Amino acid sequence: MRVLGIESSCDETGVAIYDGDRGLLAHQLYSQVKMHAEFGGVVPELASRDHIRKLLPLTEAALKEAGLTRKDIDGVAYTAGPGLIGALMVGAAAARSMAMGLGVPAVGVHHMEGHLLAPMLEDEPPAYPFVALLVSGGHTLLVDVAAPGSYVILGESLDDAAGEAFDKTAKMMGLPYPGGPMLSRIAEKGDPDRFSFPRPMVDRPGMDFSFSGLKTAVRLEIARHAKDEKVDETDMADIASGFQQAVVETLAIKCRRALRATGYRRLVIAGGVSANRHLRQRLDEMAKQEKSRLYYPRSEFCTDNGAMIAYAGWLRLSHGQTADLALQVRPRWPL
Ligand code: KG4
Ligand code: ZN
Repeated sequence: MRVLGIESSCDETGVAIYDGDRGLLAHQLYSQVKMHAEFGGVVPELASRDHIRKLLPLTEAALKEAGLTRKDIDGVAYTAGPGLIGALMVGAAAARSMAMGLGVPAVGVHHMEGHLLAPMLEDEPPAYPFVALLVSGGHTLLVDVAAPGSYVILGESLDDAAGEAFDKTAKMMGLPYPGGPMLSRIAEKGDPDRFSFPRPMVDRPGMDFSFSGLKTAVRLEIARHAKDEKVDETDMADIASGFQQAVVETLAIKCRRALRATGYRRLVIAGGVSANRHLRQRLDEMAKQEKSRLYYPRSEFCTDNGAMIAYAGWLRLSHGQTADLALQVRPRWPL
């Protein structure tokens, strides 16, 4: 079965084709980041309009890349939520119309399930069961994944998501949107031990997270070092490095708890923040200590993309799951 996948939940338009026998045949991505940077964040209405502009050309490009025509598509998957309602509606409308025109089934996919399954597109995918740490701009979730489609939430963020904490901290440091990746580059040059930022909630049992207190601690440190509203480069790098270390340590402690609680030997990380090099290194180290193995997607599939939606859709459609013709999206939708 060959499935066309469409992602349009936020500021990335992604279209991909996944074949059950041959794997990923094509993936096309257009990022709106430059357009939104001017406003310091995603402008929902502009995002919807840009998805409209890009979806069909990207679909044509994906078909061309795979050497296929529309008639070769057996099913269409799209991100049905969570995300920006207008942006989701564009993808859902395009996917549903395409499926109806072709006489094939369509299915709406949960965006975070897409992220969770992204490591399945790699050469050595994890076997089930595993623990998944999903760290994106909107979510921080620890999930017990017993089998495909069987997800039990072990912990989640009570306030900011990990990516959101990166982005907000970057903004406080005067970095342009989206600041997360840039903050982590600056952190590489800093001393992670000069400032000791709090590791929120690690002294409490359980696997939930909280990052807003850490953000406040960073804000105070920035204010303490600002001269004429400017912080010099070394201080900034040390603050960034201390912040990153605090986030990574907190995530590592909770992941260790999740491995021990489930008894699983596999840890998967996915979502935008899983592209963070320091996080990968630290979790790899921790997993080895726990006699476990760490899995993550290639960098381009850590952040939003159509490939993960095509794969998740293929998994659901090949098990006979489809939805009726109703155009349904869910801006808020628990996994
Ligand atoms: O998964 P994603 O593309 O979109 C959502 O579903 O939210 O994640 C985007 C988030 C942003 O907050 C971005 O700053 C963060 O992932 N991110 C990073 C890195 N690359 C992306 N955060 C820290 N270090 C990185 N290298
Ligand atoms: Zn995402």
